[in-house]
Amino acid sequence: MNRVGFSSRIGFVAAAAGSAVGLGNIWRFPYETGQHGGAAFLVVYLICIIIIGYPVMVGEISLGRSAQANPYRAYRSLGTKNWGLLGIWGIICGIMFLSAYNVVAGWAFGYFLQISFGDLLSTSDLPGKFGTYIADISDNFFYSLGFMVLTAIIVAGGIKKGIETASKILMPLLFLLLIGLIAYSLTLENAMEGVRFYLIPDFSLINVRTIYSALGQAFFSLSLGMGALITYGSYISKKENIGNSAGMVVFTDTMVAFLAGLMIFPLVFSQGQTPTQGPGLVFVALPGIFAQMGLITGKIVGGAFFLLLCFAALTSTISLLEIPTTYLVDEKRWPRLRVVILSATVIFLVSLPSMLSHGAIDFFTRFLHYEGVDKSFFDLVFDVFSDVGLPLGGFLMMIFINKKWGMKSFDEEMTQGNSNFVTGILKTFLHFMIIWVNPVLLGIMVVVTVLQKFFGIIIF
Ligand code: PHE
Repeated sequence: MNRVGFSSRIGFVAAAAGSAVGLGNIWRFPYETGQHGGAAFLVVYLICIIIIGYPVMVGEISLGRSAQANPYRAYRSLGTKNWGLLGIWGIICGIMFLSAYNVVAGWAFGYFLQISFGDLLSTSDLPGKFGTYIADISDNFFYSLGFMVLTAIIVAGGIKKGIETASKILMPLLFLLLIGLIAYSLTLENAMEGVRFYLIPDFSLINVRTIYSALGQAFFSLSLGMGALITYGSYISKKENIGNSAGMVVFTDTMVAFLAGLMIFPLVFSQGQTPTQGPGLVFVALPGIFAQMGLITGKIVGGAFFLLLCFAALTSTISLLEIPTTYLVDEKRWPRLRVVILSATVIFLVSLPSMLSHGAIDFFTRFLHYEGVDKSFFDLVFDVFSDVGLPLGGFLMMIFINKKWGMKSFDEEMTQGNSNFVTGILKTFLHFMIIWVNPVLLGIMVVVTVLQKFFGIIIF
């Protein structure tokens, strides 16, 4: 099969790093860090990235490149018909994950517009504003729709013209914006207190829960376990050195998360806010801080921040929409444009209950009761398709590589583009992780998550 893929290594790295860098880095990473002990979490996170994240990423990309196909076809052709189901599971995860992810991206888009061009910063009860904002979907509907349309337009442009070009423009812009915002936030009073919280670890804060959360964050942030990287991997050339490219993607993703923390904690501490407030951190604490900067500065700094969040989210939604798109183009041979319109429309419709989950409709807002609290439809989607789905996909992928595809085939794939692979230390490291460490750790993680979330058995 002759696939038209990425034109160059930098094109692939930009797109894969674009997939990885997203809401996970700028929205989720800071609140997870804030809730789990600051610097101590950062240290555990970095270890998880190296020993779990990197090997899983290499495995996933090499599967995609070897099969030159979508996740379903990849598992099927490298394994058996039944393994194809794992690919289908990945595609379903991608669709459901995007349906909820796009809602958060829509909030970011709305906040960008309302801070820059509206009067959000003059609202009297800013913290309360977020709650009423997400409950009222009259505007949100259009922001989410706008985001999905933007994603669809880029994906319709294809791998090279659409995705590669967009990533090459958006990723450097994102870095520039981040650096600018860090420079600003470090000048604020009390900024150093935030830096201390973020960079000086108190190791007594590390427990099993920290490790567990860090591992979940690593999967979310590196786009692992659902087939996004099998899909992108299927478009790279055999000349490419997968070990190096994956290394660059992991490095970029970790750098952006690290820098996002360096921007946010000084801002939070400079205003005496608490870092432990959870998912609202970026949407509740930060606008309050922007408002106190004075209207003009607030509009510029706040607008830049939410624009940054939108860029990051966009390169991720692109990779998520590409999963079902590649699948349908490969399997049904339909024209890309038709597939993109169909997938984006279906996913947008599936996202409606998640959009209505924040107070608009009680049925979706209090959809189920587990983990001792009421959970919305939106929570359920992330719990099932992210917290369980991604590590489960990663665990089964490790089993697949070990038992079905075989480490020998893995080595052969890695050797293309890196002739020294089999004699190098990287091979020893990857084999040890993929054969021994990852299956065990990921297996435990999946079982613990399912028991804790859905069976009320609290293990830690
Ligand atoms: N990694 C993305 C983020 O951090 C989310 C994502 C997960 C994208 C899985 C694609 C696949 O926001």
